[in-house]
Amino acid sequence: MKALVLASLTGPDALSIQNFPEPTLKAGQTLVLVGAGGLNFADIMTTQGGYPGAPPPPLVVGREFAGVEESSGRRVMGYAQWAAFAEKTAAYSNMLWAVPERWTDEQAAAFPVNYFTAYLAYWQAGMTQAAAPGRKHRVLIHAVAGGVGTAAVQIGRLLGVEMYGTSSSDEKLARVKELGLQNGINYKRHDYEETVKSLTRGEGVDAVFEMLGGEHTAKSLRCLRDFGRVIQYGTATGKSPQLDLRAMYAKSASVQGLWLTYLSQKREIMEPAWQQLSTWIGDGKLTPQIGQVFPIGQAIEAYKLLQSGKNYGKVVLKLG
Ligand SMILES: NC(=O)c1ccc[n+]([C@@H]2O[C@H](COP(=O)([O-])OP(=O)(O)OC[C@H]3O[C@@H](n4cnc5c(N)ncnc54)[C@H](OP(=O)(O)O)[C@@H]3O)[C@@H](O)[C@H]2O)c1
Repeated sequence: MKALVLASLTGPDALSIQNFPEPTLKAGQTLVLVGAGGLNFADIMTTQGGYPGAPPPPLVVGREFAGVEESSGRRVMGYAQWAAFAEKTAAYSNMLWAVPERWTDEQAAAFPVNYFTAYLAYWQAGMTQAAAPGRKHRVLIHAVAGGVGTAAVQIGRLLGVEMYGTSSSDEKLARVKELGLQNGINYKRHDYEETVKSLTRGEGVDAVFEMLGGEHTAKSLRCLRDFGRVIQYGTATGKSPQLDLRAMYAKSASVQGLWLTYLSQKREIMEPAWQQLSTWIGDGKLTPQIGQVFPIGQAIEAYKLLQSGKNYGKVVLKLG
């Protein structure tokens, strides 16, 4: 079968379409004929050898897909660690969800990682529960116009959260405002810590969805109000998160990690999340935001777009 193969850990240029043996199924797996693949920041990190647990090259890449389950003919969307960007992929049945009616393969391939991650960030921040009477939960979402970011805005709107979001581009922020973001901050022109402080009259936010790392972890902590939480779920800057634990005492603040790879193994966490997400989908309230679709033959270009940070929403690869 044809597959997108990474030949060495030297970045997206090491990717090419190659003939690769079809996957053999392990216990709990089923074969899916892939129609589209969702590109994630983790795919960029994988090409550079920066993603934990990746097998050595040559490696079939791709961690999110939509297509047809060969045995049943059912349309499915799924989450994997590797090997999704191929004509066929061996998927774990518990990591497959039915494609909502009327969704294309491209839309479905843009769903699992972004929406589960965003939903679980709200869950970890305690925001899937109602706020105290007379109060609204407040969140600061970094990379608000990206894949996880746009999912977080749609979910935040449904949860009634007051949202603050950062991006490098006014055009991207304008699009996210249409999804329900109330306060967009262009961090190229404004310091987000100062802006959040002034917009919240010095109070700060209850949670920050932090995926940058480096100085931004400490800076995000300073954006919190009392008992606030930084949900750390990435390090897009490539820098280790900086943290002054003593600065957390004053506000009883905390930092909590979130890794979907780990949480997705826990049925007791994923099932209630899917119940809520699928109810919203059924009501037509969630629409995956796709910035651009590339044919699989242009995968390198697609990877480089995400790597450059110029993407809006999800970058999708079309297979089949
Ligand atoms: N822990 C988990 O389970 C989990 C799951 C999914 C994703 N993630 C993490 O969440 C983050 C977002 O992932 P995504 O796939 O949805 O990507 P994305 O947000 O669609 O794309 C990354 C965005 O980050 C912004 N950015 C800021 N600094 C950047 C930098 N140095 N390099 C590249 N982009 C930069 C850019 O937007 P602006 O220019 O608008 O700032 C860019 O569009 C990544 O860090 C990823 O690793 C973690």
